[in-house]
Amino acid sequence: MNSVIVVASGKGGTGKSTVAVGLSVALVQQNRRVLLIDCDCGMRGLDLMLDVESEILFDCSDAVSGNCKPQEAVYRSRNLENLCLMAAPFDTDNEISPSVFAQLVDELKSGYDYVIIDSPAGLGSGFICAATPADTGLVVTNAEPASLRGAVKVRRKLSELGIKNLRLVINRFDRGHFEQLGCYRDLDEVIDISGVQLIALVPQDNRLSAIMQNGLSGLNWCPAANVFSCLARRVEGEKVPLAFKG
Ligand SMILES: Nc1ncnc2c1ncn2[C@@H]1O[C@H](COP(=O)(O)OP(=O)(O)OP(=O)(O)O)[C@@H](O)[C@H]1O
Ligand SMILES: [Mg+2]
Repeated sequence: MNSVIVVASGKGGTGKSTVAVGLSVALVQQNRRVLLIDCDCGMRGLDLMLDVESEILFDCSDAVSGNCKPQEAVYRSRNLENLCLMAAPFDTDNEISPSVFAQLVDELKSGYDYVIIDSPAGLGSGFICAATPADTGLVVTNAEPASLRGAVKVRRKLSELGIKNLRLVINRFDRGHFEQLGCYRDLDEVIDISGVQLIALVPQDNRLSAIMQNGLSGLNWCPAANVFSCLARRVEGEKVPLAFKG
C-alpha cells in the first residue's frame, strides 16, 4: 500500500477536486488513512470542501520550503478522523520544485495508506509537481471533445513521467446530454480515444456539487456516493462492477 495517486485532467473544471475528495472520503470510510494534498497553488479549494479553511496556518509550499515541519501543514478533517489535508498556497509566489515536493510526499506517505494529490488544470509546472511523486494517475474527463483532448494529453504526459498505472474517470455523465451532443457512438468510443482503462463513471449530480460546497455533509446520501465507494474498492484492487453504467 502507501499508494500515491495524482488526479489530473488537462482541461479545467472536469471535476478533479470533486473526484479527489469523493475518493478520499470513500477510502476513509473503508478504514484507510488518507492524506489529501491540494496542489492547485494559487487556487486553494480543498480546505473549503473539507470545511477547515479557518484552521490553515501552513500549506504545502511552507512544508517544502522549511517554513514549518511537514506535519504542521497537515490538518485533520473535523468529521473524518483518518482524512487529513495539506492545503495549497493562496498565491503562486514561490514555485514548488517537483523533486523537493516528491521528497516531502515520500517522507509523509508512511503515515497513510493513500496520498491523493489534486492537480491543477493544464500541463504546466503545477501539474508536473503534482504528478512527480505519484505511482498512479486518475485521468478525469467529461464525455465531450475538448475535455477528452485534455485527457489524451494528460495521459501522454503522465506516461512520459513514468506513471504506468493509469485509470480513467468519466465525470458528470448524463445519457440524455451525451446523446444530444452526438459526438461519439457510445461510451466505449470515449474510453478508446482516451487510451485509458475506465475505473469509474460518475453521474452528473447537482446534489454532489452542493454537498462539495458545504463541508461534505450529506455526501453519503447522494447517488454519486455509491460510485465513489465503488471507485475506492476498485482502487484497492477489488473486482467490483461499476456502480453506475449510465
Ligand atoms: N458529478 C458532478 N455532478 C455535478 N456537478 C459536478 C460534478 N463533478 C463536479 N461538479 C461541479 O463542477 C464544478 C467543477 O468541479 P471541480 O472543482 O471538482 O473541477 P476541477 O477539475 O477540480 O476544476 P479546476 O480545474 O478549476 O481545478 C464544481 O462546481 C463542481 O461542484
Ligand atoms: Mg480543482
